[in-house]
Amino acid sequence: AAAKAVRAELLRWYEANRRDLPWRRAGERGGGGGEEERAYAVWVSEVMLQQTRVPVVVDYYSRWMARWPSVHALAAATQEEVNEMWAGLGYYRRARFLLEGAKQIVEKGEFPHTASALREVRGIGDYTAGAIASIAFNEVVPVVDGNVVRVISRLYAIPDNPKESSTFSHTAMFELEAVGGFILIWKLPHGPEQFFLDYREITGQLVDPSRPGDFNQAMMELGATLCSKTKPSCSQCPVSSHCQALALSSQNASVKVTDY
Ligand code: ADE
Repeated sequence: AAAKAVRAELLRWYEANRRDLPWRRAGERGGGGGEEERAYAVWVSEVMLQQTRVPVVVDYYSRWMARWPSVHALAAATQEEVNEMWAGLGYYRRARFLLEGAKQIVEKGEFPHTASALREVRGIGDYTAGAIASIAFNEVVPVVDGNVVRVISRLYAIPDNPKESSTFSHTAMFELEAVGGFILIWKLPHGPEQFFLDYREITGQLVDPSRPGDFNQAMMELGATLCSKTKPSCSQCPVSSHCQALALSSQNASVKVTDY
């Protein structure tokens, strides 16, 4: 029941506040392009966004798409051309993977449509696969970046860094399970008191089944804006009435989630 309200309120907020970004235009259903065009646009933009801020990415993305408007065009480029276009973005491995991935996709004959098939492409991990599958192909899969981990942590008042094995009290476990009724906590092999939270599993249960791409982008955007690391803007937050951290006044407790 709570999940439905969270989805509806989050999506309403996103519609009213979403930024008009070039890859979102390309990614619109009914925005002119086909699914594969959307997939390519989402792929390039998400890879660029991994270590670079939005305003910088806008310029690079526009130049990139003008030069290589499709996965086929990119597959015909050379590594030197791609590196030259990438200059200034850093982490050149990302550019190399884009070119290698494009060649792989063209050889296959079609853009993979599911997150699990996308994972087979060079350089595409859970995050990028989830973004492409949900935004371009409407697959109901989560996208989990550091911002989403923070939103989820606060929404369910999850106290610790998901990457470290953490010890939870039985109370915490009980409350977490009560939230959704699914298994949220995995036992680690190292000892009876240690548990590992699977944020993809938790987020996956919350993804809106009819609008997974918008839902995922709304979560990322909420984490990047209102649900900030320090001083979150709870009074403006569309899901504050469902936020367990806010209810416990623990929204400012150190969320040790720095990377995921
Ligand atoms: N950060 C990275 N990718 C994003 C997206 N598609 N929407 C919102 N924030 C993002």
